[in-house]
Amino acid sequence: GAPRTAAQDLAGARIVITAGGTREEIDPVRYLANHSSGKQGWALAHAALARGAEVALIAANVQAQTPPGARRIDVVSAADLAAAVAEARRSCDVLIMAAAVADFTPVERSGAKIKKTEDSDAPVIALRRTEDILHASVEERAEGGGQSPAAIVGFAAETGDSSASSLELAQRKARRKGADLLVFNDVTAGVFGSESNAVQILDAQGELRAEAAGEKITVAHAVLDETRGVLAQKGW
Ligand code: CTP
Ligand code: CA
Repeated sequence: GAPRTAAQDLAGARIVITAGGTREEIDPVRYLANHSSGKQGWALAHAALARGAEVALIAANVQAQTPPGARRIDVVSAADLAAAVAEARRSCDVLIMAAAVADFTPVERSGAKIKKTEDSDAPVIALRRTEDILHASVEERAEGGGQSPAAIVGFAAETGDSSASSLELAQRKARRKGADLLVFNDVTAGVFGSESNAVQILDAQGELRAEAAGEKITVAHAVLDETRGVLAQKGW
């Protein structure tokens, strides 16, 4: 899309954006996946480029064309994404985790296609937890003296349940994760693959900083406005 603003307020900022959704292989033909389309991450890349940033896009299973000017690193699984982020976060100013990362992965991948036979029961696929990449990034920054990346931004798609609203759950998550910003959207109605989005942007204390709704490019600019604010607070 056309840049909403001509201001080059992110000129020279090195921004790493994860986008899409990871896939965890079960056997040579099957995997566990999620509904993330990669569109919000792509919109963030386009918006950041328009504002003068240097963009590295870590793409998990996204077919879309690379935004002109972005460096692209393709990954498949949560482990691949973790490795790519661990490498990229050492030399960036902003890390934005827009990808939907699998929380669980098969304990082992079957080398042969799992077959159904007349006498066997349905298989049980044992899963284990994946690394929480966002949390690990916040921890690593704290251990390294809190310098870089200057801004760490997470995303959270939530649905409310009987005990708490989706916003309350997102606020708890914001405090637990400790990222500078957590971009929360309510997916009760289902928004995956959509061209539009509606978000509330929370800080590390769970306080509401901003709200945005509309096309994903509009939401992307709102996220970058708040990110710019975080950078400014850190004297960037
Ligand atoms: N995330 C991550 N590594 C994971 C899982 C999630 O870095 N293994 C990141 C996502 O990219 C996102 C943020 O954490 O930016 C929040 O993801 P979400 O799935 O909402 O949070 P979880 O802590 O996994 O909690 P939940 O049990 O609600 O899925
Ligand atoms: Ca999760």
